[in-house]
Amino acid sequence: PVLVIDFGAQYAQLIARRVREARIYSEVIAHDAPLDEFKKRDPVALILSGGPASVYADDAPALDPRVFDLDVPVFGICYGFQAMAAELGGKVANTGGREFGRTTMSLTGEGLLHEGLTETQPVWMSHNDAVQTAPEGFVVTGSTPGAPVAAFECVERRMAGVQYHPEVMHTPHGQQVLTRFLYEIAGLEATWTPANIADTLIDAVSDQIGDGLAICGLSGGVDSAVAAALVQRAIGDRLTCVFVDHGLLRAGEREEVQHDFVGATGARLVTVDAEDTFLRELAGVSDPETKRKIIGREFIRSFEGAVSDVLGDRESEGDKVEFLVQGTLYPDVVESGGGSGTANIKSHHNVGGLPEDLEFSLVEPLRLLFKDEVRAVGRELGLPEEIVARQPFPGPGLAIRIVGEVTADRLEMLRKADLIAREELTSAGLDAQIWQCPVVLLADVRSVGVQGDGRTYGHPIVLRPVSSEDAMTADWTRVPYEVLEVISTRITNEVPDVNRVVLDVTSKPPGTIEWE
Ligand code: XMP
Repeated sequence: PVLVIDFGAQYAQLIARRVREARIYSEVIAHDAPLDEFKKRDPVALILSGGPASVYADDAPALDPRVFDLDVPVFGICYGFQAMAAELGGKVANTGGREFGRTTMSLTGEGLLHEGLTETQPVWMSHNDAVQTAPEGFVVTGSTPGAPVAAFECVERRMAGVQYHPEVMHTPHGQQVLTRFLYEIAGLEATWTPANIADTLIDAVSDQIGDGLAICGLSGGVDSAVAAALVQRAIGDRLTCVFVDHGLLRAGEREEVQHDFVGATGARLVTVDAEDTFLRELAGVSDPETKRKIIGREFIRSFEGAVSDVLGDRESEGDKVEFLVQGTLYPDVVESGGGSGTANIKSHHNVGGLPEDLEFSLVEPLRLLFKDEVRAVGRELGLPEEIVARQPFPGPGLAIRIVGEVTADRLEMLRKADLIAREELTSAGLDAQIWQCPVVLLADVRSVGVQGDGRTYGHPIVLRPVSSEDAMTADWTRVPYEVLEVISTRITNEVPDVNRVVLDVTSKPPGTIEWE
């Protein structure tokens, strides 16, 4: 892989993503990983990320200098650029020329990195120190008012670096520059394509599972569907998928899983009908956390029940389901410290929370992928857009979108309103712009209205369209008034007992995306 060395800024993951966008496989590694770990990962290039410190500070995160002798191409960014300059004999100093934000860089016209770009380039900066002199043998290719050496390269040694941040969108030609480093200076080729990714992952799953049996909980979401499809390609009907219908799903969701997923993959699917149980257990409960706990617990029970059913005849033949497939993605892996290998269940979010004592080995075919790659692989495997382009939906489902007690009637109301909102947003062509749009029923609130000839005393529906990159932060989406108008009119006309539609205009933070 291309190894992106993390110096403690939040940029390493983003850089890794950009490298993948250039269709080259990349991984993040901590700056203080032992040299052996660097060697073991067999890097084809190193990228030194930005970081918060001054390279001359006592506690500056240092890199083992021997990584520069590994004879692999190196690209330094911001702090990584300075660390590289200092290590290779250049000079870094704090001259008071700090730059934050948009800056104009002048190019000298030399070198490969910025070839084809016009003489002045807008770039995104964030630095106090600056490189004063490039190491010997390096040509300086750009400068800014606060950074006399804003970019340098040494093509013979396959090394280059930039003071600015090429990975952020505020540097318009950043992706081009990064790609030029990878292709022109490092001499790498674009091999990380959806077809290659899928083949690689299918082989890895075959190796891991051998002739064992595996089980996968489908949530209706993209990740579990793609994970299951990969495993199905690898081991065929030795995989069983389990879909728990807890009655808290949106309109059509169960049918989509049964029809679209099975239609596209031919996977064995067991659907558990657990609606009555879930509703019985949720009766009388309004507290959000209590709802979540009940749902988590009942999910486990249903799943376990299904596992023993699945085993049924096979168990009598001495077979045992040893493997549990989960749709864990790379950002979760990096955030939880990047642990590797097979572990017993720790991460719970994908299948709604499985118990510690389920002794499965985890199969996580997507643990190296970012979300957009998961979608690309899904398409490669022939999954339909209804599944692949699906917006996120929480495990506890509509239960956490009913503020108040969950009942069958209320679920029915919410399902209708949600379907109308989805239909109208889709037909207005807004799906790509919206990360997700929770539709929330304020079941404990009533307001007075007038409909037809009479006074009504009904419930409000909240629309919560948000735009986001990763759900960690979000902004409310500026949905055009005309679209809101259609949604509002249709919901108040078509959903009994709803006489008001309101729009949530809160960003995250302070509001979360969901209401509970
Ligand atoms: P919040 O409401 O915390 O949501 O801003 C962030 C993202 O996570 C989803 N979400 C969940 N997903 N199980 C899930 O699988 C859950 O319990 C859960 N709660 C929230 C939410 O839809 C949003 O995309």
